[in-house]
Amino acid sequence: MKIRCLVTAGPTREFFDPVRYISNPSSGKMGFAIAAAARKIGWQVDLVAGPVSLPTPEGCLRHDVVTGEDMYGKVSELFPSCTVLIMTAAVCDFRPKVFFPKKQKKSAGGSMTVEFEYTRDILKTISGSKQAGQMLVGFAAETDDVENYAKRKLLEKDLDWIVANQVGVSGSGFESDMNTVTLFSREGQMLSFGPDFKKAIAEQIVSLLNLSLAGSKPSL
Ligand code: CTP
Repeated sequence: MKIRCLVTAGPTREFFDPVRYISNPSSGKMGFAIAAAARKIGWQVDLVAGPVSLPTPEGCLRHDVVTGEDMYGKVSELFPSCTVLIMTAAVCDFRPKVFFPKKQKKSAGGSMTVEFEYTRDILKTISGSKQAGQMLVGFAAETDDVENYAKRKLLEKDLDWIVANQVGVSGSGFESDMNTVTLFSREGQMLSFGPDFKKAIAEQIVSLLNLSLAGSKPSL
């Protein structure tokens, strides 16, 4: 049976007027590399992408989205027919409570306050509808205490695997071409890849997930 894989990538944006938003510097490179690697081993790939300027990896079906709710809508539509969901997207965690339909003008000497609320946790919501045989993989972007926070997310979001990477250090994470990651599984396995190019890391991650889907216990 052909494995159908759903990958999310890039940032999401939350607007507070027609020309201004809150977001994060995710480039989408890791997610696009994962999509390309999954396609390379013959998986059918749907790629849900936030606003990024990257070409679609060959053979992947791309769905462009902007906000977290757009991403949730597309993921919840495609999830029931997929075997593996890999959420590399850096979903923006906050959105402005109020959207101003007109561009906000500056007033001389004034200041501006925007109140934020949390956005939906897509992975946590989706994991509630997981069926037997489906695999959920999250990514954890951490600036510190990487292992503890990643393991906590694995449990809280009810995932099969979490890929932890340290952001905020040079040569790794958001905008870099390189990455170093540690994967933790629900069953207590722990593996590290890198430092290496995101393309190589992506291939190692996908090959590990392929083994895990086949039921073997990957080890170093
Ligand atoms: N995620 C999600 N929906 C959100 C936020 C995150 O689905 N609103 C997913 C990400 O795609 C990633 C995982 O959850 O696979 C962990 O994301 P991360 O940003 O590391 O953590 P958060 O859950 O946002 O927690 P925090 O910001 O407190 O570290």
